[in-house]
Amino acid sequence: MDIYERLTRELGPRRVVRDEEALETYARDESLLGRYMPDAAVLAASAEEVAVVLRVAAEAGVPVTPRGTGTGKTGGALPVRGGIVLSTERMQAIRRIDGDDLVAVVEPGVILGDLQNAVEAQGLFYAPDPASLSMCSLGGNVAANAGGPRAFKYGVTRDWVLGLEVALMGGERLFFGRRTQKGVTGYDLVAGFVGSEGTLGVATEITVKLIGKPEATGLLLAVMPDAVVAGRAINALLRQGARPRAVELLDRITLAHVRPHAPYKLPEDAGAAVLVELDGEAEAVARQLERQGLLFASFGANDVLVARDDQDRERIWQTRRMASRSLTAAHKFKLSEDIVVPLSRIPEAFERLYAVGARHGVTIAAYGHAGDGNLHVNVLSDEDAQDPAVRTRIDAAIDDVFRETLALGGTLSGEHGIGIAKARFMPWEQSAGVLDLQKRVKQAFDPKGLMNPGKIFP
Ligand code: LAC
Ligand code: ZN
Repeated sequence: MDIYERLTRELGPRRVVRDEEALETYARDESLLGRYMPDAAVLAASAEEVAVVLRVAAEAGVPVTPRGTGTGKTGGALPVRGGIVLSTERMQAIRRIDGDDLVAVVEPGVILGDLQNAVEAQGLFYAPDPASLSMCSLGGNVAANAGGPRAFKYGVTRDWVLGLEVALMGGERLFFGRRTQKGVTGYDLVAGFVGSEGTLGVATEITVKLIGKPEATGLLLAVMPDAVVAGRAINALLRQGARPRAVELLDRITLAHVRPHAPYKLPEDAGAAVLVELDGEAEAVARQLERQGLLFASFGANDVLVARDDQDRERIWQTRRMASRSLTAAHKFKLSEDIVVPLSRIPEAFERLYAVGARHGVTIAAYGHAGDGNLHVNVLSDEDAQDPAVRTRIDAAIDDVFRETLALGGTLSGEHGIGIAKARFMPWEQSAGVLDLQKRVKQAFDPKGLMNPGKIFP
């Protein structure tokens, strides 16, 4: 009996997908890095079923690629070695929302936006907010250590996960971490597991912390002459005591792509736009909005607009979240990176990145979480990327994006992870010893190397 018959017998026919057409969904993700057909997809409905898949796969030596909702940007969910895609999309239960302990316990298939709505309905707040929040799942957020605009004040997924129930290759099930707000007992396995891109195991239950929902929120949009000047203004903002919850930037080219589809009418004359969102006590937010507006004005803002109400604010965020897709839709070739540079180098990073584009004849559009030094650098081209000469130029531009980033003291990835997209650049940033140590950690979790193989490591 082959492994798929065995899985079908143990889990029932409705859990195991083998039909070619249905498998297409599991062959791609939002990275646009290609189509990799798995031999089967298993839509597990419980932790027990996840463990069964990992036991049977380990026995048969078949690779398993875990998958949330496939919104990842670096190919983490692509089954590059075939085998099984293990989807947690059916594990959608919010098990507990506790406003006294300030924790929530969820299954990995819960959609982030659904969790946020559920906790906010109780006056609570879960901060991580990747642009895909209406589609991405908590399990995927854990795998990728997802960030988002609000990471500026509140940190990334790792800062919100307290404990994890996981299933490891072979079928072992463990809980590590804690269900308390604080705790330093033993190694921080949660911190290591969050962001491991599905290479260590599958989270089957996630305990996150919550906070009380901030009383008031305000958003301003500063229209700046260009991204470099905007970067300088952001540097000035970072030095002051006030902590906005988000400091985002969209450059001229990104704005031009978003503008036609945007629910918020973006100003026509913007060389760059900076979004600053504040939260806290209502009067303090109002006072801070004014102060931040004056700061951008002193750096030559053409205009400073303030969201009139929550609907207006939400329209601006919807507009911001369209950046990635608007750039994809308009170009034959698009590669989006998520580099981070030291804060002081933000203005210089823009200068150097645009110079990379000019050098190689590609368009560079940059936007993102500028307050964190985390920029989505998009390499765009309308030439035929199948043409080897064009491809060579595009690849040279991508190489230079990372060269410049590392020369500025930066890092390859601030939120999308490495996946297959950036594996070849890992040795540019990390020493052979550090890469080897990480491989030994992986071996401790997954001795047979069957858990999401082909990812992260070159
Ligand atoms: C964003 C995604 C691409 O910030 O990370 O829009
Ligand atoms: Zn982002």
